[in-house]
Amino acid sequence: MIAPSILSADFARLADEARAVEGSDWLHVDVMDAHFVPNLTIGLPVVDSLLKATDIPLDCHLMIDNPDRWAPPYAEAGAYNVTFHAEATDDPVRVGRDIRAAGAKAGLSVKPNTPIEPYLEILREFDTLLVMSVEPGFGGQSFIPHVLDKARKVRKLVDSGELTLVVEIDGGINDDTIEEAAEAGVDCFVAGSAVYNAADPGEAVRKLRRQAAAASKHLTLGS
Ligand code: DX5
Ligand code: ZN
Repeated sequence: MIAPSILSADFARLADEARAVEGSDWLHVDVMDAHFVPNLTIGLPVVDSLLKATDIPLDCHLMIDNPDRWAPPYAEAGAYNVTFHAEATDDPVRVGRDIRAAGAKAGLSVKPNTPIEPYLEILREFDTLLVMSVEPGFGGQSFIPHVLDKARKVRKLVDSGELTLVVEIDGGINDDTIEEAAEAGVDCFVAGSAVYNAADPGEAVRKLRRQAAAASKHLTLGS
């Protein structure tokens, strides 16, 4: 699956920018609050408008403090997947359950230096694990390869039937890095600058998908 990130799109033309990547699996929406991360982007009103402008399922990545309070409204609004950061709450299980109860898939995200081990036990409460491969906050950064160990570990649990989970990666994904991530067992790839800085964003998505599919061919991916 490919999830173009509108962080690298033209915010004044979001409906057109969504149309440019029609056929993508998810549209990744980076919500930043200038507290959990230094940057400030968009929030619920823009997500509400995007939901009317596109049929692509919205993948909301909340880089915000207090997801306990602010994550469920994105699910209620109609986002397909709502991901928050493990580092931002003391009770990720409760937040995940609230997101699911509000009608969306629930995602847990970990920053590059956050170990996955403390969270393995609770991953069954989630539909998505978003492994950050850059420090959250900005697009256009370089891929951090060591995070793939986390993807490999969780992929094993998915393949052995212990977990049902989409393993998603976010940050620095482009045609130089996507194969390595696919080989590690990632099955959803967020790409911002690699898609929206391309002359033809739709073609960039198709090319990334072809590369990921070819690189993961030998893996026994879970369904
Ligand atoms: C970064 C965001 C990413 C960002 C990725 O904090 O979570 O989704 O858009 O951008 P690229 O693909 O340019 O690294
Ligand atoms: Zn993101």
